Amino acid sequence: MPAAKSQHEQDYQTTVDFLRVTESAALACSRWVGKGDRNGADDAACTAMRRELGRIDMKGTIVIGEGERDEAPMLYIGEKLGTGDGAAIQIAVDPLEGTNLCANGLPNAISVLAAAPEKDGFLMHAPDCYMEKLVVGPECVGVVDITVPVRLNLRMMAKALGKDVDELIIGLLDRPRHEDLIREIRETGSRVHLVSDGDLSVAIAALDPDGNVDALMGIGGAPEGVITAAAVTCFGGEMQARLKFPKEEMRERAEKMVGGDLDRVFETKDLANGNVMFAATGITTGDLLAGVKYRRGYAITESIIMRAKEGVIRRIETIHRRPEQYEA
Ligand code: FBP
Repeated sequence: MPAAKSQHEQDYQTTVDFLRVTESAALACSRWVGKGDRNGADDAACTAMRRELGRIDMKGTIVIGEGERDEAPMLYIGEKLGTGDGAAIQIAVDPLEGTNLCANGLPNAISVLAAAPEKDGFLMHAPDCYMEKLVVGPECVGVVDITVPVRLNLRMMAKALGKDVDELIIGLLDRPRHEDLIREIRETGSRVHLVSDGDLSVAIAALDPDGNVDALMGIGGAPEGVITAAAVTCFGGEMQARLKFPKEEMRERAEKMVGGDLDRVFETKDLANGNVMFAATGITTGDLLAGVKYRRGYAITESIIMRAKEGVIRRIETIHRRPEQYEA
């Protein structure tokens, strides 16, 4: 009988399994890049991701997915996936982060997931509402505060990073709701890096010392925020967040899912904590990852995988000799 795997070996195996999941979704979806078909792209990513999750030895449960059971045919919240052997794992997925980006062939579309073993990890079960986010890398831990004016955070960040304020680049979604924030960043002397969609990629780029932005600010999706927090935990950066409810029914739902004072500031550990894992694969080339490239007869993907307990962040380039097997 083969020796039982240690906890470390099991976690390592699962992290690599998750890499295969985001790679498969990215490859399936890449066939839809630039085709103007949001649903086709999303379906391809979801189908491939679900199939690969089903092959992993785990008792997996989707905690952040494509929606409620009655509105999402697959990867719905509460769906059980995996072979049923192995650890109980909670999984937050975004098979295609940046649906418009993929449909229009724009940068930053990725396939991404975060996971937490029930035994020693935690992911907030975020409702489908908005979240104000402030994400910084390890050098700026303890120096920012989402409740103070942005100019103060920029000055503190510049000091911690050893940069001038006018060298700071802040990533955020290009939305009318960010007009005041963008003005304040510019008035302080810093620069903005605006993206039309995909604040998750930009947030991870802010954690990376070689990334092209120094922080992510502004309001984006709450589910994306929780997946971001898993990466923040792995990188040892800092995230602060506040939930935002454009509609009252969103608040009622959040009361059931999250509880407590919904207007509080959520810290990284309130969103993702413990032995969390993160995997993402580029679909279109962007701030974080290169997109899927096709060569004669094979495809190349770039991914990032990490596990908080291990403290290692891996960028992985994979050559897929039979990419056609991922086509949905
Ligand atoms: P989708 O992939 O679901 O289209 O989300 C893209 C995205 O830009 C996220 O990155 C971001 O958090 C959210 O949408 C912002 O929402 P909105 O477009 O409503 O401002």
